Amino acid sequence: MPPVTSLTAHVHQRLSAALTAALPETADADPLLRRSDRADFQANGILALAKKAKANPRELATQVVDRVVKGDLIEDIEVSGPGFLNITITDRAIVETLAARATDPADRLGVPFTDHPGTTVVDYAQPNVAKEMHVGHLRSAVIGDAVTKILRFVGETVVARHHIGDWGTQFGMLIQYLDEHPHELDHRSTDDGTATDEVPSEVTGEEAMSNLDRLYKAARTHFDSDEEFKTRARRRVVDLQAGEPGTLATWQRFVDESKIYFFSVFEKLDMEIQDADIVGESGYNDMLDETCRLLEEKGVAVRSEGALCVFFDDVLGPDGKQVPLIVKKSDGGYGYAATDLSAIRNRVFDLKADTLLYVVDARQSLHFKMVFEAARRAGWLNEDTKAQQLAFGTVLGKDGKPFKTREGATVRLVDLLDEAVDRATAVVREKAEKVGLTEEEIVENGRFVGIGAVKYADLSTSAVRDYKFDLDQMVSLHGDTSVYLQYAYARIQSILRKAGDARPLAHPELALAPAERALGLHLDQFGELLLDVAAGYEPHKLASYLYQLASHLTTFYDQCQVLSDANPKEVVENRLLLVDLTARTLHQGMALLGIRTPDRL
Ligand code: ARG
Repeated sequence: MPPVTSLTAHVHQRLSAALTAALPETADADPLLRRSDRADFQANGILALAKKAKANPRELATQVVDRVVKGDLIEDIEVSGPGFLNITITDRAIVETLAARATDPADRLGVPFTDHPGTTVVDYAQPNVAKEMHVGHLRSAVIGDAVTKILRFVGETVVARHHIGDWGTQFGMLIQYLDEHPHELDHRSTDDGTATDEVPSEVTGEEAMSNLDRLYKAARTHFDSDEEFKTRARRRVVDLQAGEPGTLATWQRFVDESKIYFFSVFEKLDMEIQDADIVGESGYNDMLDETCRLLEEKGVAVRSEGALCVFFDDVLGPDGKQVPLIVKKSDGGYGYAATDLSAIRNRVFDLKADTLLYVVDARQSLHFKMVFEAARRAGWLNEDTKAQQLAFGTVLGKDGKPFKTREGATVRLVDLLDEAVDRATAVVREKAEKVGLTEEEIVENGRFVGIGAVKYADLSTSAVRDYKFDLDQMVSLHGDTSVYLQYAYARIQSILRKAGDARPLAHPELALAPAERALGLHLDQFGELLLDVAAGYEPHKLASYLYQLASHLTTFYDQCQVLSDANPKEVVENRLLLVDLTARTLHQGMALLGIRTPDRL
């Protein structure tokens, strides 16, 4: 079953055919069709085509108009200005197209798949072991999750990779400290620190993080004040890199404890992360040697002052000298770059990806630029196998400065999320009585609204831009917020519940009111919009589409009643079709952004 052809695509075909008939050398020319305020569509491409063919644009436009088939799809077409075309669609075609979307047997609202699906690895939600998650990790998780869902929806195969920071010299002091104070991470310990045989109680994410935080601080204090501890800790780094089993076992405890915390945050975020997709930096350890050997053999990396480096003509330091990407340090240690280069080999050759996407802070752009260029020189990336950083900007406080607590510390992500849910719950509670929500529903909706607000605020501006974290604005019922969209959805559900026996049903013979046409034409653009959003990894365009959809709906309510006794049955049914499809489009669009749409709000 083919997807539903949009009205835009239909009109495009008609115009192309007429253009070709009028001017054969313009076959396959793009009439540049756009939605327009003057008519339903405007075609702006005639001018350029006429110029190319040395024809008079108005004359060419007139010839096209004469040759366009009218009646079924196109109600009216006329030349305007120097050679634009204004096109009006028949009401019948609008309703029929919407009906086809509503009854799509694949239940995809007629949305097509991409023409050339491939395999994309999306590297996102990559916090660091033994460290608190902050707003930067929030952005990567939220944007990555949305992009992953959108790509999958249009048919791309997506492999998620959570490149967590689980390796590095900082583990030396942590491991050494824990080995010297083994009971400090023992979930079976009693208050006095002596281990018991009792079954461990489930550790919450919050507890796991506070354990790790305590260990980190204690280890740090020892490291900074005790020279002998420092020496022992450094020795543990060597043991860890050599894969000494006891050292690895202690390291694993930090990873496991951290994962308890990560998963609790992902759950709070209402986000499904698979354990199997968590392949952290350590996951590429046994590729590092070979990666370096290959880079050196290919002449991509060279020895410089004892280190293995890749140089770039355009990456210069303040002194004008080239700043290299260091693949292997002079002490033999591997860093972030060696891991990322190995990960590229794994993703391209083992996972067979043709696109690698990195949802990472813009402040790491130079790193990725160098890593990608090195991989290109090595032949691991090329025209068919591409890598791209989907760089995101900084989260700012209300003051417009990078988000910090009053004391200047990094804001804990969980605190932010909890506050968002608290505020949202208050908003939900205000209307709860009128809607008849139980306490349980209030709590659940509070979560959906609060987490949705945080995600939407992040996704509704273009990723690369900074944005202000302003909870007051985020949970506002007015303006471009998720809760505005959630209310739009819930209001439709309430209408559908009140509709009784009346069902959404298409009546193509009916004349449509202007607000119905506007809503319908916007609904029809969902598929093309999604393909565009997927191609450019731009969830903010989806957010803005959904916001416009809700605005069209508001205008529609102002001008058209759905369940009015004054309406003939056909009008009621036809309008139910419109609002029902609007609700389903809102639901699908929000779901792709990772946001829930409660039925009652
Ligand atoms: N863990 C890193 C951080 O917190 C992000 C990792 C990004 N992904 C990568 N392949 N380097 O900044």
